[in-house]
Amino acid sequence: MQKILIINGPNLNMLGTREPEIYGSETLQDIEKKCKEYAVAVGLTIDFMQSNNEGDLITAIQDSIKTHHGLLINAGAYTHTSIALMDALLALKIPVIEVHLSNIFRREPFRHDSYISKAAKGVICGFGSDSYILALQAVADILKRGK
Ligand code: DQA
Repeated sequence: MQKILIINGPNLNMLGTREPEIYGSETLQDIEKKCKEYAVAVGLTIDFMQSNNEGDLITAIQDSIKTHHGLLINAGAYTHTSIALMDALLALKIPVIEVHLSNIFRREPFRHDSYISKAAKGVICGFGSDSYILALQAVADILKRGK
């Protein structure tokens, strides 16, 4: 069975109480459960992780080279700052999809630029927790088609 790694960056552990008017009321555990249920339906296995540390996120990306067939990443604010995360993602051969709960293009100008996008096959943002499901659907299709 093909394995997908879902990586969540800083402050996403605070979902549920963090700015619910922007990010909704679901917790990260709720999103993990929703992703795992969807994965079963499309025949994928999921590993789901969160860290507030840039280095831990980079190590998880590097380790996925040997273990995973696709990667979803919501890098939180590192999206807009981290060349190191971008470089780690560029070293991967597996498909990478960038995910955001909010529509980053409707928000402050500093959120309009993404280093992650430079290493991603595509971006899904603005659909709340459904952004993760839409990204899983996209990666499932890519893996099924082989491109
Ligand atoms: C976010 C958008 C980022 O700009 C922000 O820093 C986050 C969450 C999102 O999912 O909408 O932490 O990645």
